[in-house]
Formats: sequence, structure tokens, C-alpha cells
Amino acid sequence: MFPRFSHRLDNIQLSMIRQIMQKAEGCSNLGIGEPDFFAPLAVRNEARRVIDQEKIQYSPNAGLAELQHAVASYHGRLADYAVCICNGSQEALFDIIFALVDPGEEVLVPNPGFVAYATIVRLAGAVAVPYRLPARNDFRLDHDHMAGLFSDRTKAVILNTPSNPTGQVLTEDDLEFITRLADSHGALVISDEIYREIYYGGHKPPGVLEGHSGAVVISGVSKMASMTGWRIGWAYGPRAVIEKTTVMHQYTSSCASSLSQKAALSVFSEDGMREVAGLRRQLAENCSLVCSFLDSELKRRFVRPQGAFYVMVDVSDLGESLSVALRLLRDQVATIPGAAFGSEGEGFLRISFASEPETLEQGLERLRRSDYFCRRQ
Ligand SMILES: Cc1ncc(COP(=O)(O)O)c(C=O)c1O
Repeated sequence: MFPRFSHRLDNIQLSMIRQIMQKAEGCSNLGIGEPDFFAPLAVRNEARRVIDQEKIQYSPNAGLAELQHAVASYHGRLADYAVCICNGSQEALFDIIFALVDPGEEVLVPNPGFVAYATIVRLAGAVAVPYRLPARNDFRLDHDHMAGLFSDRTKAVILNTPSNPTGQVLTEDDLEFITRLADSHGALVISDEIYREIYYGGHKPPGVLEGHSGAVVISGVSKMASMTGWRIGWAYGPRAVIEKTTVMHQYTSSCASSLSQKAALSVFSEDGMREVAGLRRQLAENCSLVCSFLDSELKRRFVRPQGAFYVMVDVSDLGESLSVALRLLRDQVATIPGAAFGSEGEGFLRISFASEPETLEQGLERLRRSDYFCRRQ
């Protein structure tokens, strides 16, 4: 017999995403949110060199000075801002929320949104207050609704642009609106911009730090450089916030892998950034392929992504999104039910198109052949 587990984990399980993926053996993977490509060559070469020539020891808690410097320059150095390098941006989120909230305080999180936001807030004992990104409005921000959620209990608001799972981006007006609201309530804006290098409109989407100081940006190399397993992410924000985040980080993991940090530095080299642009081009091709398939062959409603590598497809005619995703496993395609991301995602499936073109084409072919999904009219 084990002792009773902590109440902290009551009602918290592995996400619906993991539950689907555990059943997805042999399926074309249009589910999980990671680019299926090699890390940039410059990164791999540097990792090999470091293994052969350097001792791999702890780094300073907040990360190697050179990487902190590269990250700050990447975000456009701001006075009195600092960086904390973590084991992925998810740890950065965890550390900052734990550094910030007390029981009973509220953090606004997107619905639909990345599954970790609400869970981390709840683990920290605070209350996650979902703000709707209404499906009927193509998951765009509803200003009036958001304004009504701020109160004197609001400690922070988490933004995600471009968004997982919707692929939508926040406009400059949205960012201006939110930062003004947050300022007037003394709340911190935490903007998860991990997908900001992956966009389709020809222009990099606006980021929160352009024109607004005081916000924290969360980002990392997982998505932009196809480096999910290297576990390098960061928080870049006002020094006082980052110092507290770094205290949390010391006690969660001491420091991010020094090997990964040294290698990740090469992402910011000319060669590294050229490969980031190459990945963006490949994902743009994948995006066009998926959208024209949904448009002309499936004739299903979907929300055209402006960034990230997900497309939300309307399957409300087929039933609940979880049962649709489970049923599609029988046709050997793994997708993620929109309900995994909150109530506003219900009625949709999230398709990830970050795979190698062959995997993507195989997945689309299986959807095309599925009598269930591709109902002939
Ligand atoms: C919106 C968003 N933020 C953060 C993460 C976590 O990324 P990592 O911890 O690999 O940096 C993910 C991963 O799927 C994500 O989709």
C-alpha cells in the first residue's frame, strides 16, 4: 500500500493528448505538437564538439551568460530586463506562476489554450479563470468578455500568440488592450510566444514587448528550431520578476542542461537562423497542403492558421471531439480532440502539420479514405 497521494493532484491526470497518443501506435501522427525534423546542423555540430572537448557541469541557475545575452538580444534588449533559462518553456511557466501566486488569487488563461496553463495555476493553489476565444468568431479575442474577467484578485494573464491549438495571432490592438487592462489592475502579462517564429502571413506576428514594457515573454527553441527534446526555454521579463523566477528554478532543476544550452546558442548564429527560416518555409508548405485538402476535398470548415502548426477542423457534425478522435484511431490517424484545450475547443479536432511531408501526406490519404471522416455527399 502506498500512502495517500497529495490532494494537489486531485482531478489532474495526464492530458487527453497523452491519453490519445498512448493509443496511437501505427497511426499517422497528426496529433502531437512537435516538429518532426532534425535540429539545425550548427546545433548538432556544436553539441558534438562540446561532448568531445568540454566538461559538462552545472551552469549558473539562470543559465550561461552567453545564452542569456543571445536571448535578450533576440527579444530586443530592454532596460532592467533579465533572462532565466529553464528546461523548456513549460518549466519557465511553472516557475513564474509558482513564484507569483498565492491560494485564491486568479490567473486568466485562454480557452481553448495549451493544456499546461490551467493545470500549473491549479497546482500552485490559485484559480485559473478561462477567457473565451470564441469558436464562432474563429477563436479571436473577445475584448468585452476579457474586460469583464479582470478583478482585484487577478494576478496575471497568460497570452499565447500564435496560439496552440488555434493558430490565431493576437493583433497589436489586442495586445494594447490587454496590457492596458492588466496595468490598471496591477496584473502581470505573461505572453507565451514560443511559436512566434512560425507564421504564414509574410510578417512576424506582433509580440507583447513591442511597445509595452512590464510584460514577461516565455519562449524557447523547441518549436522554432525543432529542438523539443533538448529542453531549452526561457522567461524574459522585468528583473525583479525574473529574480524570483530564478529562485523557483533553482529548486525545481538547478539549471537547464549545460550541453543543450551550449548547443542552443548556435540557433542564434546566422546558420542557425537560416535553418529556422527553412523550417518556417517547410511548415508553410505543409500548411498550404493541409488547408487545400480540407477546403477542396473534405469541404469542412476550419480556421486558417496564421502561425504555429495546428489547424482546428470543425467536426461538430460527427459528435463529441473525443469520440471523433478515438474513432479516427481505427483509421490509423492520430488527431487531438479540441475539448482537450477547453470547452471552446469542443466540436473541433486539432490537426498538427509539423511532420515530415511523407507522414503528413500519408495521414491525409488515410483521412481521404476514411468513410467515417470523409462522408461522401
Ligand atoms: C503554447 C505552448 N507553450 C509551451 C509549450 C512547451 O514547450 P517547451 O517546454 O518544449 O519549451 C508548448 C508545447 O507544446 C506549447 O504548445
